[in-house]
Amino acid sequence: MGRPVASYLGPKATRAGSKARAGSAHSHPGHEPAWLDSTPPINKKVPPIIPLLLFQSQCSLHFPPRSPGPNRHFLLGDHGRGVRRRAIQRLPPRADPPWMAGRASSVERVKERSTGLDKFVLREARGSSAEVYLYGGQVTSWKNNSGEQQLFLSKKASFKPPKAIRGGIQICFPQLGNHGVLEQHGFARNRLWSVDESPPLPDTTSDCHIDLILKQSEEDMKTWPHSYELRLQVALSPRGDLILTSRIKNKNADGKPFQFTFAFHTYFSVSDISEVRVEGLDTLDYHDNLQSKIRCTEQGDAVVFESEVDRIYLSAPPKIVTIDHEKKRTFVLRKKELPDVVVWNPWDRKAKAMPDFGAEEYKCMLCVGAARIEKPITLRPGEEWQGRQEISPVPSSYSSGLLDPEMIQQMQRI
Ligand code: BG6
Repeated sequence: MGRPVASYLGPKATRAGSKARAGSAHSHPGHEPAWLDSTPPINKKVPPIIPLLLFQSQCSLHFPPRSPGPNRHFLLGDHGRGVRRRAIQRLPPRADPPWMAGRASSVERVKERSTGLDKFVLREARGSSAEVYLYGGQVTSWKNNSGEQQLFLSKKASFKPPKAIRGGIQICFPQLGNHGVLEQHGFARNRLWSVDESPPLPDTTSDCHIDLILKQSEEDMKTWPHSYELRLQVALSPRGDLILTSRIKNKNADGKPFQFTFAFHTYFSVSDISEVRVEGLDTLDYHDNLQSKIRCTEQGDAVVFESEVDRIYLSAPPKIVTIDHEKKRTFVLRKKELPDVVVWNPWDRKAKAMPDFGAEEYKCMLCVGAARIEKPITLRPGEEWQGRQEISPVPSSYSSGLLDPEMIQQMQRI
């Protein structure tokens, strides 16, 4: 049975309810979330930047059709009561600031003394950075351009195989959760990956990335008898986004197809879980792992947290937003070929039961990750699948119902 999720929404959150749902602001054909509708909700505080945008748009004397052209346009209006259309032209990207002169991106291989494990440290010229272990192909750190950590890594995380590292972004393959006969979340997260010597052409324009690969081992063939190549590219974009692209290829020589599920199991660092809301999942069905995976329907207009949550939302839109009011920042997660979304917080009781997790750490983490579980992927020999998750950290001026992160970052450069 589905249960209404939102009973406490935090001081700055809107409360879920039939009143809000009845309004056009919350109807989303094709599962488009409220915040993808670029019209700000009427009752939301409009940040001071909006008048500036209106002014700029009035100056442009340009009223485009709704469909996006080469420049993308944003609608500022009043939810169907005569939407005012205004065009905001994209500003050309500014030249790099003087302090960037001579700074270049780098990727360095480092052996962690304490653990003996090899990791790659990615440093993007504008300041963001990431750390990626060969063990698990796991991102364990991601800092934005201001050097702030965006991912949660437990203080009690074990770096000793075969335990998976608790935190960062775990690659769950070929099985997510316990939906199958393999070990929980599959074996990829606790195998030693290699550097991919022949990576495919990068999808990104980023010059700061690392390519890793995992192939079958004799040991794994006993439980999952397939030859495969699992590739992972971890990239930092100039604005500090973290982009993960996975490619999985069936290399079976015996002509057999294989099937798998997959997730980027992402542990975000948050300031106070009770002040966090996840948007974009409203009205969706989900499997509730706390109720024997029964199928429920999300009743709230956002997911909020006041007890253990362990769900897989099905067929979610391509963008999901996690808003951390306390830290005044928002993570915008974009995904491709990964329709489902894992949302997990163990809360106090389970936290105490996990040996590699601090008793109080549930307060400052939240897993929200792109996944593919309801409709597993089947690949025939020679076929390849590609999935992608891109996370953009944006400051607090970006909140539910407002503009997209790229726009905010452009505005900050005005
Ligand atoms: C979530 C599962 O995805 O991962 C939870 O739905 C599980 O049931 C959690 O507890 C952590 O899993 P693990 O194997 O890393 O402890």
